[in-house]
Amino acid sequence: MRVFDTTLRDGEQSPGVNLSPEDKLIIARQLSRLGVDIIEAGFPAASPGELEAIKRISAEVGQGLSSEGEAPRENPPVIAAMARANLKDIDKAWEAVKAAKNPRVHVVMPTSDIHLKYKLGKSRDEVLEATRKAVSHAKQFCDDIEFSAEDSTRSDQDYLCRVLDVAVECGANTLNIPDTVGYSMPEEYGELIRMLFVRYGSTGEVFISTHCHNDLGVATANTLAGIANGARQIEVTVNGIGERAGNACLVETAMALYTRESFFGTLTSINKQEIGPSSRMVSELTGMRIQANKAITGANAFLHESGIHQDGILKNRSTYEIMNADELGLSVDGLVLGKHSGRSALRARLEKMGYLVDKAQLDDAFEIFKYAADRHETVNDELLHGLCAKLSLEIREPAQ
Ligand code: KIV
Ligand code: ZN
Repeated sequence: MRVFDTTLRDGEQSPGVNLSPEDKLIIARQLSRLGVDIIEAGFPAASPGELEAIKRISAEVGQGLSSEGEAPRENPPVIAAMARANLKDIDKAWEAVKAAKNPRVHVVMPTSDIHLKYKLGKSRDEVLEATRKAVSHAKQFCDDIEFSAEDSTRSDQDYLCRVLDVAVECGANTLNIPDTVGYSMPEEYGELIRMLFVRYGSTGEVFISTHCHNDLGVATANTLAGIANGARQIEVTVNGIGERAGNACLVETAMALYTRESFFGTLTSINKQEIGPSSRMVSELTGMRIQANKAITGANAFLHESGIHQDGILKNRSTYEIMNADELGLSVDGLVLGKHSGRSALRARLEKMGYLVDKAQLDDAFEIFKYAADRHETVNDELLHGLCAKLSLEIREPAQ
């Protein structure tokens, strides 16, 4: 499964996010470490600074040049730039990516009647003609052409296929099917991808790609439905950032494929150890904080508070965890002490801090701990040291 990362294009379209060219380069280097197959580095027609940033990414990351202390990459990621379906945008996109070893031009044209009428003011025939011109123009420069039918999921399917027929005829090798406004439901999106896979993708020459937005909270579910129905490329972002409610989340999708390999039967080339560092970097540089309960990379994703769960985790992590946080470059403690916590979690934390307690001491400590837990959201190590001092407990072993 090809991973097309659009953190630097759709992700940067998140309200309030504006990455400097330097930040974009830093993120592109990290995406390369993460192992994505394609980096969509931006939309060059947006500004001269954007064009320059993509050129730098193409010349460095797109050539596999190494950052300090790292080996050069023999097989660097494809670098893509987005263009609307007009010749000027396409010329800029080619200028932006041509220094990359594997360049891609990504041409976008809306296909829904809503977009044709209100956004473009063009007829269906005019859009067909503009698609022909745009894709043929891009193909003169670059062999790797992606065509996106914007608002695919609200498009008339016969007309969508007429536009995609033209794009393929003119040389598009990837057909991207955006659920631009996050309108589709997983079953529906899966059916659309299945129909397009049978029509274009089954010989293996044309890749069908997903691009799902999260307006109804199902972007990752739609992406997985697309995969189950023949998609061979997924467009995703780190932390799921992007226009409005964002895009399908790279980490969630890749880890769903990994964790449920027996169900999906396909994997990505994502380097799991780089998940934590990538998520933290994108959050820091974009200023978009990760919600605590975000799957996999949220602060709470591997924390257990209730006594029943903590007891299970202390006996064997598989009781309440389906992934291994250590394998994902995430540093998590695992147990948070609060009012739902039990004796075994308290004992484990005290031992970690260096206190060895017998049963009677643990009973006393637990009583005071519960009292503290009623007054504090979580009972941290500082409070626990105070509690132990009250009971005259001494550290017997160095803290681990
Ligand atoms: O959501 C969308 O339709 C897009 C396209 C420009 C690919 O981001
Ligand atoms: Zn999008």
